Amino acid sequence: MALPDKPWLGFDPCAARRCRQVDLVTLMYNRHFNPLLIFVCIILPLISSNRCFALDNGLAQTPPMGWNSWNKFGCNVDEKLIKEIADALVSAGMKDAGYHYLVIDDCWQIDRDANGNIIPDPKRFPSGMRALADYVHSKGLKFGLYSDAGTLTCQKRPGSRGYEFQDARQYAAWGVDYFKYDWCSTTTQNASASYSIMRDALLKAGRPIVFSICEWGSSKPWLWAKDVGNLWRTTSDIQDCWDCKRDWGGMGFVHILDLQAGLESYAGPGHWNDPDMLEVGNVGMTENEYRAHFSLWCILAAPLMAGNDIRSMMPAIANILINKEVIAVDQDAGGLQGRRVKHDGDLDYWMKQLADGSRAVALLNRGATEQKMSINWPDIGYPEHLSANVRDLWAKKGLGKMTGSFSSVVPSHSAVMIRIEP
Ligand code: GAL
Repeated sequence: MALPDKPWLGFDPCAARRCRQVDLVTLMYNRHFNPLLIFVCIILPLISSNRCFALDNGLAQTPPMGWNSWNKFGCNVDEKLIKEIADALVSAGMKDAGYHYLVIDDCWQIDRDANGNIIPDPKRFPSGMRALADYVHSKGLKFGLYSDAGTLTCQKRPGSRGYEFQDARQYAAWGVDYFKYDWCSTTTQNASASYSIMRDALLKAGRPIVFSICEWGSSKPWLWAKDVGNLWRTTSDIQDCWDCKRDWGGMGFVHILDLQAGLESYAGPGHWNDPDMLEVGNVGMTENEYRAHFSLWCILAAPLMAGNDIRSMMPAIANILINKEVIAVDQDAGGLQGRRVKHDGDLDYWMKQLADGSRAVALLNRGATEQKMSINWPDIGYPEHLSANVRDLWAKKGLGKMTGSFSSVVPSHSAVMIRIEP
């Protein structure tokens, strides 16, 4: 293994850990003998081996995309459903559009055996998880599971507390590629410490597994989770509604959206803010509202985990979830999360800068009547006199060259989404 470049810079204990794997004999006899390197590669690892906090699994370089069972099916999961969803992800064109991770949420597990091994519900998953993962993989998809950092999951199934390494080994043996880790029954546990244990367990298990942190934003994971997980929930659970609020904390699309403003600097390749899974197609919102929800999630560079019954998806819903130009905004290689650039009563303007310098803009009308909305180039970091091509990403058509601003009449509870290319 190559020596890290200037490992002493920033006194990075993780560089020290990587360095420790270098053949020390080679180091000792290196012509460029450097006492500082000796310190970093020998002394520092001895004193800091527990302080290496880095996920470094190379996954989720763009926001993960897939499907998760929770929003539509709750505890009603079994292997027949999962196989049918795998088939539908392929036949509906979702796989081709990038939805690769098929994740079973809570309720697949039922108990532990005498040796502490986690047991999948034998009635619902009679063929076992390895066989199911093999089926999912045979479709060219990836397979995901769920557990909880406490003693019990949110639906009172066995959690992973105290079994982290054993569970991670089991998941790797089953062929798990994505792992969502919840936060129920954790009493006084410390979030960053608990998630770091599972991060280390997954790394030790030796299989590349996307690590999805789900502690609902309670301890501001954007401040600590970059080196722990590939994504972290920023709020409590999304509800299939425009702006409802539940007494236990669940909330509709616009409330979740508001909580994302200001978090943009924490996201980037390999580590994403997660405003929760998609509700598109679950019938609680109108088609325009779902289009707005999807537009804004793409501006936010959010993980795109569909949560509807894609076996019976209406064409209008498929046209939202599979709009490749909108998905391209989410998946842009620049990895910049968009931000709110203007907020004027019911009118919200969000912008995401893309790798090629162009901008994606969502004009969101949260009000009860249609409104004319305008965005000026200086609002999105362009000079006033710049002439740029504007493309409507939902209409899928070029609107021609514009200078200085763009205006559109936006219906109630809707978003217009454009891409501006100088
Ligand atoms: C919640 C989580 C949901 C879902 C549910 C399962 O805590 O936020 O996304 O996983 O638990 O019980």
